[in-house]
Amino acid sequence: MAGKRALVRVDYNVPLDAGRVADATRIEASLPTLRWLLERGSRPVLLSHLGRPGGRPNPAFSLSPAASVLSDLLGADVLFAAPCDGEDALGASRELAAGQVLLVENTRFLPGETANDAALARRLARLGDFFVNDAFGTLHRAHASTTGVPACLSPSAAGLLVERELEALGGLDRPRRPFIVAFGGAKIGDKIDLMRRFVERADLILVGGAMANTFLRARGVETGVSLVEDGALDLARSILSAGEQRIRLPIDVTVLDRSDGDGETVEVVAVDGIEPAMAALDIGPETRARYAEALRGCAAFFWNGPMGLFEDPRFAAGTFAIAEAAAEATAAGGFTVIGGGDSAAAVRRAGLLDRVSHVCTGGGAALAYLSSGRLPGLDVLAHRRHP
Ligand code: 3PG
Repeated sequence: MAGKRALVRVDYNVPLDAGRVADATRIEASLPTLRWLLERGSRPVLLSHLGRPGGRPNPAFSLSPAASVLSDLLGADVLFAAPCDGEDALGASRELAAGQVLLVENTRFLPGETANDAALARRLARLGDFFVNDAFGTLHRAHASTTGVPACLSPSAAGLLVERELEALGGLDRPRRPFIVAFGGAKIGDKIDLMRRFVERADLILVGGAMANTFLRARGVETGVSLVEDGALDLARSILSAGEQRIRLPIDVTVLDRSDGDGETVEVVAVDGIEPAMAALDIGPETRARYAEALRGCAAFFWNGPMGLFEDPRFAAGTFAIAEAAAEATAAGGFTVIGGGDSAAAVRRAGLLDRVSHVCTGGGAALAYLSSGRLPGLDVLAHRRHP
């Protein structure tokens, strides 16, 4: 490896706040692989996406703030080049000195990235002598930088973060029983289809957040101005009819009520008491108690998506109750996995990160892997013949 350029796909899709990295968890998670490569004299060149800029350059989604954060964390020079597929990036990769790292600009600034364009993959592949995919959170995407590059650059391998995540998720392959899953969050369309698989695999599914609103509406409950994915109502109905016995929906919710002119009030109502001007933004106290009680007896637990708008303290109690219940279940010998940026942020904010079994760096990838056992970014590595 000494002297060779390691082209490493990382997942630096990190939250930015006024041009600064607001949470460096994903950058920290890439350090073991980068240190491993540097210790062997390899010269890492990093590829990543950030956000969904739609295939054109947009300074609001530049990866350059990640370079200085990485440099501080790694204690190494981190150079930056843009665009990711240009001659500047290629030249910088060739001139990289031992001990330095090169990060190139957001791969999603080019339309060929999400289209998995073969010509773009070939241009990116020129940046390295071998390929390492350590972007666990992006393994469920078949994009140029995840599946295109390893198809034309050999050898290609998984990194240490991917290995660690797969080992942890392997603990849920044949989970101990009872196996409980909690789903919440607002990315309903992305997740609801995957949820169907869990109806067959889990003993109990606890639903909260905006996901619960969609299920309540599918059952014919008035949900007022709550966030509901109308396009997913039929799917929600079919999941409910397949798994009625195993799916738990909220029985009460904390709502924001705007019926009073300009004013707004926060109150708890039973789900059949949601009025047209109300938005359900958290599970209510009765539901919290029921969900926590259910978790008390679990042997394995997977959680994806917060139970409410936990960033607002008025609607955080449901999410924190689940985080606390997960920590208690872990202390009682249960195996607990938190998958998803928002749920992980909630567990961190509750100070419980060290009291659950594993926190995944990618919710979508974890869900895809647990529901189907397949990840395109991994399959392409497995199918390569390595010398
Ligand atoms: C994530 O944050 O889940 C990954 O980085 C993938 O991002 P995407 O959902 O925009 O593909």
